Amino acid sequence: MLSEGKLRTLNDFIEKTSKEELIWINGYISGLISTSMPKDSGAVIQKRFTILYGTDTGNSKKLAMEFNAAGKKQGAKVKVASMDTYKAEDLLQEKSLVIILSTHGDGDPPPSAKKFFDHLMSADQKYPDLEFAVLALGDTSYPMYCKAGEDVHHRLIELGATAVFPIQKCDVDYQADAANWYDLYLKSFPTEPIKTVAVQAPKASGGKKFYAGIIKTNINLNAAGSNKRTHHIEIKTIEPILYEPGDALGVMPKNNEETLEKLFAILPVDPNLNIPYKGAGHTLMDLLTNKLNICHLKESQVQKYADIVGQAIPKVRMDLLDLMRIYPMTRPAQFIEFVHSLTEMLPRLYSICSSPQVREYEIHILVGKNTFTIEEEKRFGLASDMLSSLEEGSALDFYIHRNKSFRLPAPDTDIILIGPGTGIAPMRSFIEERDAAGGSGRNWLIFGEQHFTTDFFYQTEIQQYASSGTLQQIDLAWDQKEKIYVQDKIKAKSKELYDWIKNGAHIFVSGTRSPMSEDVEKAMIEVIYAHSGKSAPESEAYWNDLKESGIYKADVY
Ligand SMILES: Cc1cc2nc3c(=O)[nH]c(=O)nc-3n(C[C@H](O)[C@H](O)[C@H](O)COP(=O)(O)OP(=O)(O)OC[C@H]3O[C@@H](n4cnc5c(N)ncnc54)[C@H](O)[C@@H]3O)c2cc1C
Ligand SMILES: Cc1cc2nc3c(=O)[nH]c(=O)nc-3n(C[C@H](O)[C@H](O)[C@H](O)COP(=O)(O)O)c2cc1C
Repeated sequence: MLSEGKLRTLNDFIEKTSKEELIWINGYISGLISTSMPKDSGAVIQKRFTILYGTDTGNSKKLAMEFNAAGKKQGAKVKVASMDTYKAEDLLQEKSLVIILSTHGDGDPPPSAKKFFDHLMSADQKYPDLEFAVLALGDTSYPMYCKAGEDVHHRLIELGATAVFPIQKCDVDYQADAANWYDLYLKSFPTEPIKTVAVQAPKASGGKKFYAGIIKTNINLNAAGSNKRTHHIEIKTIEPILYEPGDALGVMPKNNEETLEKLFAILPVDPNLNIPYKGAGHTLMDLLTNKLNICHLKESQVQKYADIVGQAIPKVRMDLLDLMRIYPMTRPAQFIEFVHSLTEMLPRLYSICSSPQVREYEIHILVGKNTFTIEEEKRFGLASDMLSSLEEGSALDFYIHRNKSFRLPAPDTDIILIGPGTGIAPMRSFIEERDAAGGSGRNWLIFGEQHFTTDFFYQTEIQQYASSGTLQQIDLAWDQKEKIYVQDKIKAKSKELYDWIKNGAHIFVSGTRSPMSEDVEKAMIEVIYAHSGKSAPESEAYWNDLKESGIYKADVY
């Protein structure tokens, strides 16, 4: 029993505390009690829970595997499942669930988790017996920080499930925060006699390390007559760059100078005006140049603009400049109000195409200049246009985006590298690394583009790797002459490919997600079906095993 004074203090505290916080405190105190009380050998309840993860670049999966091992070490009965293959109806059977989910796109779940996510959002099934905890992975540079994890957390509460912990959001340096959270989660099971694990204060998520780069080389690899522009960009630094083959380089684009000039000319307000934004003062010019996205505004932002100017504007996406030209805004206060509806600029990623073994102070990327048409006017993607226009000697700050699930296997393991278009970028990094490191594993490259004569990126290097014995197999698909794609090459070499897979080869795919990587996966299932003696469903299950076990690795966009 508590004394009257303590009871009053407790009641005061409870009044000021939200339901979610109370649930968390409940779990936390149970954990403290279970680690500080003498163990009652008769009262052992086994921890039993499922870890369900949704991932794109592999971080959530890696954590799920680590949590699984750590949980089992503490005597818990843990099941691990990927949202990719998990049947949403099975949620009804779950009692305790740990969800590890990253956010991708523009606040979306990873594509592999989309089916499960959509089901949950649209389902009206209730889960009154389900207790859950969400670990959301994200990146604070994105405005929709950890949005997918948040959505799942709130939706499960709506569906009657109980959150045993408040949602834990983790930035790119997620390891320590995730481990601490999981320690607390394990401790929240009431009477299991677990070993004491030091509880550290959650580490504040630090920012990313930005490198100050200087453009050393910027060349278009497409020859005259090609439909494309694909720039090989070499960036040097004065300090060693810490990265591994498979990682990507991240840049924060600035808005296009020409667009800004036109925008400032019709702005109803002085661009040098200082306005408060997120707790700090910025000039409008700085915000519009460096911090805010002004391209391809969402329908909701366009409608907000329509409300402010008091005009009917169709429900479409538009660039800010087009919007202001067609529906002029005349009063300064209107624009200042609208600025707060603009979202932050998103970083762009580019697969690194060099190996740190070969170049410590230098990093290479391959950038396809993104081109699209609006009302017959040719336009370019923001970051790829900016990068492809950078002159030698100009500055480019960048960071390294780690991709732990896209890594070379041991040097004696064979690898099959499928990288059409700019998808060849990480493959070049892998080949450079293998060439430098040696090893008995064989290397097979499958590359595709439009024309042999104008679009064969890194042709000389690839031929040299073939003659030096670094590349044992090369297959090339040119889709303009006879409409041959990489998946056709896979099918054409199916027997050999299956032999490599049987021999333990790891398979890498990079480039466009849809349709390329989907077609590659279908072709792979056909290869297995043709040569393994397995039925069609067995072949698909075999392929899913290769995906699940990380033998097939995709870095697609
Ligand atoms: C892990 C990863 C690795 C990647 N690796 C590479 C790589 O090695 N090489 C590479 O080239 N790319 C790579 N990408 C893609 C790259 O990050 C960018 O997405 C790509 O360069 C396009 O960005 P952008 O800023 O040029 O285009 P954006 O400005 O973002 O435009 C993209 C698209 O949005 C639409 N759009 C934009 N504005 C408008 C408008 N006003 N009206 C209508 N539609 C519009 C168009 O469809 C356009 O094509 C990678 C992506 C990821 C996630
Ligand atoms: C293309 C892309 C888009 C992303 N979009 C977001 C986002 O909108 N919000 C966010 O919090 N994190 C975003 N992230 C960061 C990822 O969630 C983060 O890197 C996470 O650790 C990835 O986990 P995973 O490997 O399990 O997918 C994005 C990452 C990429 C590559």
